[in-house]
Amino acid sequence: MTVRESSALDNAAEFEWQADDIFGRIATRYDRLCDAFSFGIHRLWKRKVARRIASENWDVLLDGATGTGDIILRVLTQEGVEGRTILASDVSAKMLAIAGERLSRHSAAVVLKLLDAENMPSVPTHSVDAYSISLGLKICNRRLALQEALRVLKPGGRLIILEASNIPWAVLHRVYLAYMSVCMPVLGWLATGGDASAYKYLLQGIREFPTAEGLAEELENMGFENVVFERLSLGIVAIHTARSPSEENGA
Ligand SMILES: C[S@@+](CC[C@H](N)C(=O)[O-])C[C@H]1O[C@@H](n2cnc3c(N)ncnc32)[C@H](O)[C@@H]1O
Repeated sequence: MTVRESSALDNAAEFEWQADDIFGRIATRYDRLCDAFSFGIHRLWKRKVARRIASENWDVLLDGATGTGDIILRVLTQEGVEGRTILASDVSAKMLAIAGERLSRHSAAVVLKLLDAENMPSVPTHSVDAYSISLGLKICNRRLALQEALRVLKPGGRLIILEASNIPWAVLHRVYLAYMSVCMPVLGWLATGGDASAYKYLLQGIREFPTAEGLAEELENMGFENVVFERLSLGIVAIHTARSPSEENGA
């Protein structure tokens, strides 16, 4: 396997934020774009993952690739999150600025951080109880991002991932991908006012991201424990949860 093939496997969308400020360019339209691509269904996925995140046992949560704060806004409406701290992070200053506006009335609970999920030297090792990342793993190097999650999580800490996945019926999955290949460019072009690159990465990320079973295996190979996943909307996306190894297991 060549170096490029190996990096493409880790970085489904082959997106590098240093090379293209695409999320900065589409920041003000990002939420509209999500509605358009998913016909609003992303709201159900986000509500579900927010409930899952809130139900976990944590005092400090780090949310990677937080975008416009859509998930964290929903986490904050769940019961039992009062008094907990959320570090909402993203590599795009413009996305984070929108998150800041939307989350401003929760400023006591939320700390915004400009962070590259692949390399977070400012976040101390074993310093957070839970790490979440939603719809962000497919557009970064997931091996590096997951290694960083493993590093910053306390032993026994919780990992929650919402990401594109696979419909287990191959024919249906191919139909879905064919539909997205047509629909995403058109809707993306309309929603972004003609920014052709806006959907390119997301589409490739969806195509190249591992199956739910494949991601679960990767997590286990990296050392995460208790890996479980749930498919949503037939498997268009899945929520994976896992635990970082406890100290007794040599974490
Ligand atoms: C598809 S959006 C998801 C946003 C949000 N989590 C949601 O579900 O609405 C992806 C986000 O990942 C961010 N991103 C891309 N590469 C990143 C990286 N290496 N580190 C941190 N954030 C990154 C982008 O700036 C963008 O805000």
